[in-house]
Parts: sequence; structure tokens; C-alpha cells
Amino acid sequence: MPEINLLNTHPHTKRNYEKRAEEKTPEIVRLAKQFGKDFFDGDRKCGYGGYKYDGRWKAVVERMKSYYHLPEDAAILDIGCGKGFMLHDFKEDMPNCTVSGIDISEYAIGQAMPSVKPFLKVGSADKLDFPDNSFDLVISINSIHNLPLDRCKKSLQEIERVSRGNSYITVDAWRNEEEHQNLLKWVLTAETYMHVEEWKKLFPEIGYTGDYWWFIAD
Ligand SMILES: C[S@@+](CC[C@H](N)C(=O)[O-])C[C@H]1O[C@@H](n2cnc3c(N)ncnc32)[C@H](O)[C@@H]1O
Repeated sequence: MPEINLLNTHPHTKRNYEKRAEEKTPEIVRLAKQFGKDFFDGDRKCGYGGYKYDGRWKAVVERMKSYYHLPEDAAILDIGCGKGFMLHDFKEDMPNCTVSGIDISEYAIGQAMPSVKPFLKVGSADKLDFPDNSFDLVISINSIHNLPLDRCKKSLQEIERVSRGNSYITVDAWRNEEEHQNLLKWVLTAETYMHVEEWKKLFPEIGYTGDYWWFIAD
């Protein structure tokens, strides 16, 4: 099944949607969308409020490794890799794998974990600087929805192009009106978000055959 939650080991975050809606001024949104220090390591109003390694990706890596039957020397790409936390955990778990990461944020790449920093570069999801069929697994967690629809579609096609078959993305979505309203209150940076059924219609239309899951504001 392409619709699969491989992130269900993550701690559940309790979100205060009303507080976020009150605090979300145009200036906060402008700062967040720069994907700089304010977004990662500034005030919680602007984004993460401190984007720190806490080992939460270890369990996800284990899950992906077995779900995709990854060989020990797998080539893995993370799009929107931030500071490289997940790629660090891949490298710890599978020392012979090859990791690559791209992110639009010069700040995040500059602050990346030393273990993976040499393998990360600044770039955009919709224009991947890699040959066709380069990776055993392409991952993009909560990142491509930050692009407007046309460029989000292009990103999905780029993921398809550089993958040898396995890919996994998560994007902002809702299943009912309450989740829709929560998401509208919560989003700072996303440009493309829709009902899960709309995403599921879009994927085959633009030729994305990989797996997917959702960021849901429940
Ligand atoms: C919500 S964060 C997720 C980071 C990481 N994947 C994680 O789950 O911890 C979104 C990430 O997407 C990156 N991003 C935004 N626009 C992008 C683009 N056009 N291409 C690549 N990365 C982008 C941001 O800089 C940020 O690191």
C-alpha cells in the first residue's frame, strides 16, 4: 500500500492551534518562510523553536530499512534534510550506505551535523542535481508542500526521476473540516496543502508512484 505511516514512532506533539493563529502575523510568516535561524532556532512562533537532534529518526530508519529491504550499501537521498538528523541516523545504522541531502536553507546546511555535512548541499526539491535512477530510496518529510502547486508537482516528478523505485514523502493534508481548519491556523510556510483524496488523485496524474503519508493537524 503506498499510503503508509512509517513515522508512527515519533512522539505525538500537542499543538495549540488557537495560540498559533493569534501569533501568526504577516511578519512571523515572512520570517518563517526564509528558512533561516528564525525558523529553525528562533522563537517557537516562527517555527521549530530549537531544531535539535534527539534521536527520534533512529526508529524511522529501522522501519524504512526493513520496509524497503535496503541493502547495506544503499544510496539514500533526503530532500528537505534540514540539519541532516535522519541521514546521520542512516549512517549510524548502515555505515556502508551513501547519504545525500539537499535543503533550500543555507542556515540548516551550515548548522548540519558534522557526520553528514560533507554530503549535504543547498538546493531546491524541484530541480535536483542528480542523474536519473541514482537512489535506492528518496525521502522527503514535510518539505515539498512548501512549494507552490506547480513546483510541488515538479518536485514529485524529480523524486520519481532520481529514484530507482523506492520513495517516501509526507505532506500537509486533512481528512475532515476540523483538521482543515486546524491546519489553516497552524501552517507558517506551506504553500500546497489539500484533502488526502486530492493528493491521492494528484500523484498518479503527475506520475508519482512512490509511497506517502500526511502531516495532519489533529
Ligand atoms: C518542516 S521542515 C522538515 C525538515 C526535516 N525533513 C524534518 O522532518 O525534520 C521543512 C524543510 O524543508 C526545507 N525546504 C523548504 N523549501 C524547500 C525547497 N524548495 N527545496 C528543498 N527544501 C526545502 C526547509 O528548509 C526545511 O528544512
